[in-house]
Amino acid sequence: MSNQKIHLTRRHALAAVPAMLATAGLAACQPKAPAVLNAKKKDTPMSDPENAQPLVIGHRGAPGYLPEHTAPGYDLAIRMGADYIEPDLVFTKDGHLVVRHDHYLSDTTDVAEHPEFADRKTVKDGHEGEDWFSEDLTLAEIKTLRATQAFKSRNHAADGKFEILTFGEVMALAQERISMQGRQIGIYPETKLPSYFASLGYDFESAVLDELSRTDWDRPGSPVFIQSFEDGILRSLRGKTELPLIMLLESADGVDMKDIATYADGIGPDKTLLAGKDGTSTGFIEAAHKEGLKVHPWTFRTDRLPKVFANAQGEFDFFFDLGVDGVFTDFSNDARAALLARAARSG
Ligand code: G3P
Ligand code: CA
Repeated sequence: MSNQKIHLTRRHALAAVPAMLATAGLAACQPKAPAVLNAKKKDTPMSDPENAQPLVIGHRGAPGYLPEHTAPGYDLAIRMGADYIEPDLVFTKDGHLVVRHDHYLSDTTDVAEHPEFADRKTVKDGHEGEDWFSEDLTLAEIKTLRATQAFKSRNHAADGKFEILTFGEVMALAQERISMQGRQIGIYPETKLPSYFASLGYDFESAVLDELSRTDWDRPGSPVFIQSFEDGILRSLRGKTELPLIMLLESADGVDMKDIATYADGIGPDKTLLAGKDGTSTGFIEAAHKEGLKVHPWTFRTDRLPKVFANAQGEFDFFFDLGVDGVFTDFSNDARAALLARAARSG
């Protein structure tokens, strides 16, 4: 029942979108940049991108097409219609935040082809076998590496071409693209392994907040969500920033939405937590919304489509109907196309 209510609300919201959006270019269907973030574009109307629904989040950039967490990958995600780009953050030996999904480097870089780092290969708790780790290389050393495609079945033509980025470089890219695209673009950083890095003496909270402050995106209303799988860092951040915080969830076990709402503004659940095999809601979305929490599930991958869906549009439509507020996807183009088609259907 409540599903239907959410569905209707969403449809009404879509119906309010001007009909021209259905046939205009991508830029026209996007939330516009708030004036405070776009002072140079004085004629851009105010809007609230945090509440623009549903959001397309370029998960690790555009890894469906290019190596993840690279400048061309983030740029492609934006050009394909992402509202936000998602940098996963880990530390270098000298305390810089770089964007990698994992602190081990062999899956997504050419580190194994660098004989000068052969002696850094090591074994660490929590990781099977030997590897190279971000916290054992300085930023200057990591900058000599090049990114590679993590998925064997995806295109590897760009392997070895693109450097590893700092968090600051990703923020600069997003901020530059706002004026280039003429629409709002945000960042959605994830603090990876905060307890582990704290045990090594790194201060994740300060590193992230300092970087946001440097670029003026620490202010309330900035197009930033901060996410983590660990509630500890989010609880602590709650006292230090008004930026929206997102609690990532891999399992429904022990989830207490009321508690999450005391320190976070939304949840980022595995999408499989949201609906049962019969295609009905598990109640997860409704429970989150009841507490005022946004729901941004992951990860939508056109090349790994659940068998129940005939195509990516079918999967996106299903989750949009279910009431999600945004989607993490490796294929921002498909999410944007699904939204455009919905808007077109709504007239
Ligand atoms: O952060 C949302 C989603 O990215 C969580 O999964 O493992 O790809 O970081 P992961
Ligand atoms: Ca992530």
